[in-house]
Amino acid sequence: MSFTYIRDQIIGVDVEVPTFDGTKRKYVYLDNAASTPAFKSVLKCIQEFLPYYSGVHRGTGFKSLLSTELFDSAHEIAGNFVNANLSNNTVIFVKNTTEAVNKLAARLCLNKDDIIVTTMMEHHSNDLPWRKYAKVVYVKTDSMGYLDLNHLEDLVRKYNQNIKLIAVSGASNITGYINPIYQIAKLAHSYGIKIFVDAAQLIAHRKLDVKPDESEEHIDFVAFSAHKMYAPFGTGVLIGPKKNFEAGDPDIVGGGVVEIVTLEEVYWTYPPFKEEAGSPNVIGGVALARAILQLHEISMEKIAQHEGNLLQYAYTKLKKIPGIELYGDTNNLENKVGVIPFNIKGIHHALTASILSFEGGIGVRNGCFCAHPYVKHLLKLNQDEEIQLITQIRNGDKSNLPGMVRASLGCYNNEEDIDRLVQMIEKIVNNEYKGKYILNQRTGTYTLQGFNINLKEYFPLHPESSFYMDKHYPESA
Ligand SMILES: Cc1ncc(COP(=O)(O)O)c(C=O)c1O
Repeated sequence: MSFTYIRDQIIGVDVEVPTFDGTKRKYVYLDNAASTPAFKSVLKCIQEFLPYYSGVHRGTGFKSLLSTELFDSAHEIAGNFVNANLSNNTVIFVKNTTEAVNKLAARLCLNKDDIIVTTMMEHHSNDLPWRKYAKVVYVKTDSMGYLDLNHLEDLVRKYNQNIKLIAVSGASNITGYINPIYQIAKLAHSYGIKIFVDAAQLIAHRKLDVKPDESEEHIDFVAFSAHKMYAPFGTGVLIGPKKNFEAGDPDIVGGGVVEIVTLEEVYWTYPPFKEEAGSPNVIGGVALARAILQLHEISMEKIAQHEGNLLQYAYTKLKKIPGIELYGDTNNLENKVGVIPFNIKGIHHALTASILSFEGGIGVRNGCFCAHPYVKHLLKLNQDEEIQLITQIRNGDKSNLPGMVRASLGCYNNEEDIDRLVQMIEKIVNNEYKGKYILNQRTGTYTLQGFNINLKEYFPLHPESSFYMDKHYPESA
């Protein structure tokens, strides 16, 4: 399968966006770590399925039966994608990874003396939910941002019996480092502890295998989001042992989660239904399944190889730019997904990101990426600076918000995309950008003076609007 084929599978790669001088440029999307575009096959599948769409599970009509079949088998497809043993494990559909971690934290029946071991590099979604229910201890990261596995082992030895779970990301959304999850699983299991892997950043870039349940390398719980894997239709996945979800009360209750209810008693049904209260997002589930089949067809190995080559290409070029600061390990790229955190010396990260957008037509992200402790660590911020910042931010001034710019790759990006990024960064370094940018102190963002496009009018939502289908996506997917 050629690379051109893969790029051709993506919706929106040729879309042009307005830039500072009134011209339009082909958009370069390098914010895939936040959310990926959709596969054409996903849209096509949804379009073809929609005439048959119906509410699921308790309808007797043909459409309901068909929708139920598709939605239920989407669970199976998601489980099989990570090689989960579906006799013992359940696949629960939620909204996204954040909701999955919140659900798991709620459903592990934790108390405040229980300890969750997580790490300094986590996205807040794999940190804050644990803080709500238990005591959290953090594995340190070294000066390069790698997990300190000796510290992990120390923590495990120290808290041993009280540890209820080790919760670690499969890959970092800041440095892209792929964590040694099997090594961590082995350590966890040798102490009788279970492991949860937040696979939000890993799932679309490497083959994830949770390994057999009896393996010492088994990943007990895993979560990921469809919108980061080319199916942005609102589904997330949590996979884990059925018995964990058979026990206790579901975190959200209502329709669909019971066998029978009396005025006095409630008898819960079994997972995953017990954990998917209310009418589920059928379209989102089907979209996810179709995206998984597409990823499988392309092959995760090919994706890893392509993104790896592109990452190498990007770093080779970026390292040559004198004014650039690159964070983390820029030499060992094997165990890293395509995430490139950087800053341009002397230029605020928010300004860099705005110039890239308004003048380059390039979509990146800036800030702390919902991983404040890790970003501050990589930026080497000291405690005094941090205290000063907190005061400033709490006083409504985000103009000194620390952060970085992040460019992140998807399976469809190409060298041309990287070249556009590099050229634009060079322009910024050489002070050759054209616009006048105004800082909004309250939000810490920069807007381009004179750029007055009304976004509501740009893509009107009124009923007659045919903006997207007619102008931008002429032939149906
Ligand atoms: C590592 C990691 N975990 C969790 C999340 C949260 O994912 P979602 O926003 O889909 O809930 C993200 C999102 O960027 C992430 O990068």
